[in-house]
Order: sequence, then structure tokens, then C-alpha cells
Amino acid sequence: MIPDFKRLNLNFTSENLFRIVASKYNRFTECENYYSTDDIKKWYSEWDFKNYNPNIYSHGFHQYPAKFIPQLARKILRVFTDENSVVLDNFSGSGTTLIECLLLNRKKAIGIELNPFACFMAKVKTTPIEPNKLREYFLEIVYNYTDKNIQYNEQVFYNINFWFKKETIMQLSKLKAAILKIEEEDIKNFFLLSLSEVIRRVSLTNHNSFKLCRDKNKITEDFNPNVLEEFRRVSSRNINLMSQFFDKVKNSKTEIKIILADSRIKQQEIEDDSVDFVLTSPPYGDSRTTVAYGQFSRLSWQWINNDNKIYSLDEDLLGGKNNVDFNNEIIKYSPILKEQLEEIKAKSNERAKDVLSFYIDLYKTLKNTHCYLKNDKYFVLVTGNRTVKNVFLRTDLIISELSATLGFKTEKILYRNIINKRMPAKNSPTNEKGVLCDTMLKENIIFLRKL
Ligand SMILES: C[S@@+](CC[C@H](N)C(=O)[O-])C[C@H]1O[C@@H](n2cnc3c(N)ncnc32)[C@H](O)[C@@H]1O
Repeated sequence: MIPDFKRLNLNFTSENLFRIVASKYNRFTECENYYSTDDIKKWYSEWDFKNYNPNIYSHGFHQYPAKFIPQLARKILRVFTDENSVVLDNFSGSGTTLIECLLLNRKKAIGIELNPFACFMAKVKTTPIEPNKLREYFLEIVYNYTDKNIQYNEQVFYNINFWFKKETIMQLSKLKAAILKIEEEDIKNFFLLSLSEVIRRVSLTNHNSFKLCRDKNKITEDFNPNVLEEFRRVSSRNINLMSQFFDKVKNSKTEIKIILADSRIKQQEIEDDSVDFVLTSPPYGDSRTTVAYGQFSRLSWQWINNDNKIYSLDEDLLGGKNNVDFNNEIIKYSPILKEQLEEIKAKSNERAKDVLSFYIDLYKTLKNTHCYLKNDKYFVLVTGNRTVKNVFLRTDLIISELSATLGFKTEKILYRNIINKRMPAKNSPTNEKGVLCDTMLKENIIFLRKL
């Protein structure tokens, strides 16, 4: 679909926008880690990052749904921030923005995230540890695991036997006990995150899916994973990634702050007019269906933290509850939302409520972001336009209209192809079995400026 630029007053090409911002802040002077000289020529036009590896540094420690491509975050951060910048990501997920701030030595990077497992992951991924120390502790864990006298309790949680074979539960419980013997908190957490990757691989789930479902090919006699072998593989990969990461960030002074909280609620810990730049990617409005962050995190978090609250997470995320009123003020602020809601409502009242609840929640976070951000500074959102009841929702334009009422000017909307981001390729726009359409094959990058 061709973007409907006429409905917006977008004066800039991306090259224009970047040149203006870069010259305003005198950027492009830092040395660049990702781009070779040849790549620099493509600086303005490269947005798909087809030939780039997203699993570099600590980014590659663990999967997470709809992660940023690190190169994309870096490109934007390089232009819009410098070493004195305070950066916020109010849907920080697995921590991509925070890691990139650390690599770029920005002053401070703040993440807000409601998923406790994602916060844990982001903490581990932004904590550099000397790799040789990790190698030593890895041997200690293996030694503990193979010790015949190791004491451990078999892990118990609801339905555990549905997701894991009996023998696997025993091996995982023993491995967890071996890791918990480590006293140094950061090192213990590093290996618990590796354990989480192992949990996904040795479970009976399809570990390439974000939703929890059993994998037919694994429910056979022949599926007998060796937990220690998997742990060896994941740990060795992660230690190598840490080694690259540690080298890059050992002198970085970035202060990292991860707030486990709801970004719809104004955070007292962040002062008004204190943030220089916001880079974020909110959920696309389908956390209960297509990209289920809670379902993705559930088994890992129950193993690591015995936390059952993770069951209700998807309902607590943006748009998770649909008890909304069709007279909500935001409908007045966005004619496009009004028009599209009417179309969906004609087909399903419930689905229209789902959609409206998502935008009401999103509006609350836009409002908070407006308070945190300094005047004349930028807020960049990466979002997708999804299809509900065959209506292609223009989240890009709706955000632009809603944010205008708060005092943001839309400077530019870029459209990039989603190539290496892990997203389901198809969904059901009507919720009818067998009726599928392409989900977001394009992503929007919306550049807002606080007036
Ligand atoms: C698209 S993902 C962000 C991924 C992130 N950019 C990364 O690279 O890992 C959206 C995130 O928003 C979080 N989220 C959803 N609703 C939230 C809320 N109300 N407050 C804070 N975080 C929320 C989800 O848990 C999810 O981690």
C-alpha cells in the first residue's frame, strides 16, 4: 500500500531530515562500528538491513518477539543523540535501545517495561562481565551438575508435565540448582538467561513460535534432549558474544536504568523535560493474539523465578483489556481512527473495542512521553500497521494525528521492509480458521518533534 502522505504535511525526505538533524547537532563525527567505508555511502538509504547480522554482541543472547534490529536503533541513535544525551525507551523489551546506548557511550539510558522476564533479560544484556570469569564459572556449574551428591528439588508449576518430559524436568532442575550455587549475582543471572534459552529448546513447545503450543514432532519417544549439552552450546555462544561486547563497552560510562512498570502510568522517577531523545517500539496491538509477549516468557519465567503472575501479563499489556467506551475523547482527535473504527464496528463490536482500547492506552503513553521529553527534541516510534476484520489499520497516521493534539509535529514517516525481524508472516484478519493474510511486511518509523 502506498503511504497516504497527502494527509500529512511531511516536508522531508529521510536524507533531508537526517542532514538537518545531523548538522543541527554536528553529528557523524564518531567512529562507526557497523558500517564499512563502502556501507557509509548507503547510510541514507539503508533501512531494511537485509545483509546485517542482528545477533551481534549481547543482542544475540536470547530470542524475544519483535526485537529491534540493532543496526536500525544504532543508526537513529547516532543521528539524534550524543554522549551527553539521556535516552528513553518506554517499551524497552529485551533492551536493544539500552545496549546500543551503552555501545555508543550515551550519558544515560532508561527503559520502561512491564514484562518482568524482559526486564531480567535487558539487565543481563546490559551488564558487561569479563569473559574469562564466565568461562571459569561455566566449568564450576558443570562440576556441580555432575556431582552425584548435588541437592536439588524437582521444579513444580502448573502443567509442567504438559510442556516437559519427566527426565527433562529432572535434568533442568539439577542444572538450575548448579547455577544457583553461584554467589555473584551478575554471573548467576548470566547463566540463568542461558538456562532460559535451553528451557525453550528442550521443552515440548515449538520454540520458534511466540505462542505456547506443543510441537507434534517433539511429542515422540525419540525426543530426548540432553540438557547439559544444550547448556554447553548456548553458554559457549553467549560467552563468545559477551567477549565481543565486553571489549566494546568496558570503558563506557552509560548509566542504565530499567524500570519494571506500566508506561501508561507517569513514572515519578523520570522528571519532566529531562529526556533528550525517545526511541521505542510499542506492541502493534496484538499482544493477546499474534505477538504474545507473556506467552513467550511464561515457561522461562516460571523456571527462573517461580512467578505465576506472568499468566495474566498479555492482558495487562497495551490494549490487553477492552472495557472501553466508544465516546472516548481520542476518537475526536483522530479522524482516521474514527473512520476505521466505524468500519470494524460494522463487522464486530468486540473487535472494534479491542482496537480502540489499544489506541487509548497508546495515547496515555504518548502523553507521558511528551512530559518527559525536552522541547524541540525527537521521539521516534517504530510500529506496524495490522489488519483487523479486513481493515488495514493506519497506526502510522493515527499516531501522527493523536500526537499532534499533544504538541508533537510529525517530521517524517519512513516505511521499511521487515526482513530479519522475527514476526509471524501470516495472521487471521477475521479470526476465521484458515483465512490468513500477510501480517506486517512493512514497518513504520515515525519521527515526531516536541514543539
Ligand atoms: C515491540 S516490543 C519491544 C521490543 C524492544 N524494542 C526490543 O528490542 O526488545 C514491545 C514491548 O512492550 C511491552 N509492553 C506492552 N505494554 C506495556 C506497558 N503498558 N508498559 C510497559 N511495557 C509494555 C511488551 O512487554 C514488549 O516487551
